[in-house]
Amino acid sequence: MREIIVAMTGASGAILGIRLLEELEEMRVRTHLIISKWAQQTIQCETRYSVEQVRKIASVCYDVDDLAASVSSGSFKNDGMVIVPCSMKTLACIANGLSDNLISRAADVTIKEKRRLILVPRETPLSSIHLKNLLTVSDLGASIIPPSMGFYFKPQTINDCIDYVVGKILDSLNLENDLFKRWE
Ligand SMILES: Cc1cc2nc3c(=O)[nH]c(=O)nc-3n(C[C@H](O)[C@H](O)[C@H](O)COP(=O)(O)O)c2cc1C
Repeated sequence: MREIIVAMTGASGAILGIRLLEELEEMRVRTHLIISKWAQQTIQCETRYSVEQVRKIASVCYDVDDLAASVSSGSFKNDGMVIVPCSMKTLACIANGLSDNLISRAADVTIKEKRRLILVPRETPLSSIHLKNLLTVSDLGASIIPPSMGFYFKPQTINDCIDYVVGKILDSLNLENDLFKRWE
């Protein structure tokens, strides 16, 4: 069974993390969820889900301050980590090796163990600080999947747009999906 660490931080776009968790559950992928304090806020502000409902979708949940959790160690075997949405603050922590909570620590471990790390950064416009940090983590091997739309398949609803981004994340994890129409 595949094991993926999913982290949600306090950038806009909480629904992207929720949809990813739902898809992974459907695919019988085991998920290890960490929700930052500010992600709890965005879940409440932006979605119809409660934080508890989101936690229930995941296989295992961790407290963001629990640096003794299993995912804090390189010895915990897994198939990679997705941070969706990823705030500029968490991006800055990862780019600079600042492991001050379980999300930045698990990302730091993912990088050092050379496992798959996917960031879905959400901010606009992007400053030079954001862009430099993105380049740093990209150079370290992370995949950057901004929640930016492709319009070639003529999306009709917000759900089409959400599924497009989630489909791109699943593609990056090498997980088969038909969440969006591919170019032919
Ligand atoms: C409703 C709301 C929306 C936010 N949207 C963003 C955003 O899109 N991008 C971002 O980088 N920060 C955003 N922030 C600010 C972050 O939540 C803040 O920088 C926080 O410290 C991030 O911490 P975390 O990465 O540990 O979750 C938002 C905050 C709130 C309350």
